[in-house]
Amino acid sequence: MSNRKGLPFKIREHAEKLAEYLHHHNYRYYALDDPEISDAEYDCLMRELQELEAKYPSLINSNSPTQRVGAAPVDAFGVFEHDPPMRSLENAVNEGEVREFQERARRYFRQTYDREVDGIRYVVEPKLDGLAIELIYREGRFESGGTRGDGTIGEDITQNLRTIKGIPLRLIRSGDVSPVSSYLAVRGEVYMDLEGFERLNRDRLEAEEPLFANPRNAAAGSLRQLDPRITAARPLKICVYGIGRIEDHSFESQSQLLETLHKWGFPVSREWRKCADLDEAIEQYQHLLRVREEVPFEMDGAVIKMDSIELQEELGFTSRAPRWAIAYKFPPKQEHTVVEDIVVQVGRTGVLTPVAVLKPVRVGGVEVSRATLHNQDEVEKKDVRVGDTVVVQRAGDVIPEVVAVIQGKRPAKTAPYKIPENCPVCETPAVRDSGESAVRCPNPACPAVVREGIRHFASRGAMDIEGLGEKLVNQLADEGFVKEPADLFKLKGKREELIKLDRMGEKKVDNLLAALEQAKSQSLARFIFALGIRHVGVHLAEVLAEKFGSIEALGEIEDADSLMEIHEVGPQVAQSIVDFFHHSGSREMVDRLLKAGVNPAPPQRNATSGDAGAPLAGKTFVLTGTLSSRSRNEAKAALEALGGRVSGSVSKKTDFVVAGENPGSKREKAEKLGVPILSEDDFDRVLAEKQIS
Ligand code: IVH
Repeated sequence: MSNRKGLPFKIREHAEKLAEYLHHHNYRYYALDDPEISDAEYDCLMRELQELEAKYPSLINSNSPTQRVGAAPVDAFGVFEHDPPMRSLENAVNEGEVREFQERARRYFRQTYDREVDGIRYVVEPKLDGLAIELIYREGRFESGGTRGDGTIGEDITQNLRTIKGIPLRLIRSGDVSPVSSYLAVRGEVYMDLEGFERLNRDRLEAEEPLFANPRNAAAGSLRQLDPRITAARPLKICVYGIGRIEDHSFESQSQLLETLHKWGFPVSREWRKCADLDEAIEQYQHLLRVREEVPFEMDGAVIKMDSIELQEELGFTSRAPRWAIAYKFPPKQEHTVVEDIVVQVGRTGVLTPVAVLKPVRVGGVEVSRATLHNQDEVEKKDVRVGDTVVVQRAGDVIPEVVAVIQGKRPAKTAPYKIPENCPVCETPAVRDSGESAVRCPNPACPAVVREGIRHFASRGAMDIEGLGEKLVNQLADEGFVKEPADLFKLKGKREELIKLDRMGEKKVDNLLAALEQAKSQSLARFIFALGIRHVGVHLAEVLAEKFGSIEALGEIEDADSLMEIHEVGPQVAQSIVDFFHHSGSREMVDRLLKAGVNPAPPQRNATSGDAGAPLAGKTFVLTGTLSSRSRNEAKAALEALGGRVSGSVSKKTDFVVAGENPGSKREKAEKLGVPILSEDDFDRVLAEKQIS
């Protein structure tokens, strides 16, 4: 017997059996940590299925266990919406704050419902230090997944998530397990365990690639790769702890939810516990703190959640976080080591920072060999000297710092440290701004300041020039190729010379040149941030881009007062922006960048002013449901190409909602607000005719 596609029925049946076995053994291994077969046997089953699929490609589907190796690279991630939004957690750093959290919740309950809530039960879970993600399952099959992003909109990293073996591609449906729901949005943390992290860094050291500072950065960097094959090669793990939305299923308690998710095949932390009251929850926190060094992954605290879902729903959320849960953070990890030297680092703004060079020590699973001493005042306050034994600590991903000196271990003949009076790089006398504890090198042409400026310009949050990290910036500066950011865009005329540089080669140079070309049209917000204006961070850069729409308009600002009309801008910040554009050096630096071809893209929301001629300029669309002829990303790109804007949520400002198959709550909201709804046919017509009425 054979089926429609001419594939022998027996073969399809056999392949499905193999896939079923592999899904099952994957679950035994990753979710239960209790494998039933050896790795070799697993590999054997896998190979058999791979061979069958190679012979009969129609057997392949995206959720086959063989498809975890990584799909083709993408140019950019699409958007991934969270409905409801992924909130954050309030933090507590001591027992008092945890008790206050319970009191706050009880007070809120009393005021809202006019009755008392007593006998609150809790669930305590470890707080894993990784990256928050959401996974969508339809009819028990993995469909898509995304990062948390700003909580409402993250990035669609489905192809990368598929490579993580702990993520079930199909959920378990068996006798004693409650039925799998038709729609499930599950939330959790992707992380890297300590062993995987160390292995990865060892490999990178050998390959002369930059090391990851900690497992969290390694997990985030691995998950946000445009090439899923790179993600597939990284030792990522997953642990789920909650849900976003679920259909035809409900839970009574957080503990029931965790048990059910585990039964459906998700890895759930083994360390979660049910607690009868807050005292027990605090005891469980103490227990986690004790085992912190023994577990093979980084925990940065415990999450204490009220167990009853009914109570969770009654308490609800503040704008930021649930009223029914709190993150009780662990104190930072501390170790003792010896200060071998104190050196001075010159930062992007010229600030001189004393840094202790330490005898390498492992602090919370990460090797630390330098720690910041912040500034001269701090050095004096702590009286840190070369030769001292000190306590160092790492708090989350913050740069390690020296907490205190162990006076009893101070060797004879040490001298108090004094920060040099001149910049150690350009010898210019350092200055101290009134009211500030930092001293700065005031020379804008100081090679260290210039270098740091270029590094910042190219960095992730700024122009995001792939491959242009600290080492390469140093090399390009040492070899005289770049003296300022604009020089980067002149590198394309020097391809042959660049190829001859140490550790470069054709491929690396071409990649760099391509990344630079791409960066020319980076967004205005990132460009503003990249300029390194003092006090202008990522968020403020976005606000300024939105408000001014072009770098020229921002540069024309005359006085600080008009800037201060912007909610986010205070007097110091306003002055700093005005000073930057009034300083001939920085003004000319910006001009040279524009001349070199940098043409920042104005914010899309300003399509009406920036690209008023575009057919869909000024129109905001919301996409919902599945379109049969285009992916969400393709639809978004098509609208944007015509000047339209695509938003994640429906509001009165939405002009049109495009509703495909199975539209969700967004369609209902559009109906309620009277926003016109386009069917897929209408939408196709709009794109074909490039106009909208
Ligand atoms: S619950 C509304 N549970 O901590 C509930 N979060 O600030 C919000 N995290 O990055 C989250 N382990 O991904 C929850 N057991 C756990 C968690 C956990 C780690 C992370 C979460 C987010 C941050 C929340």
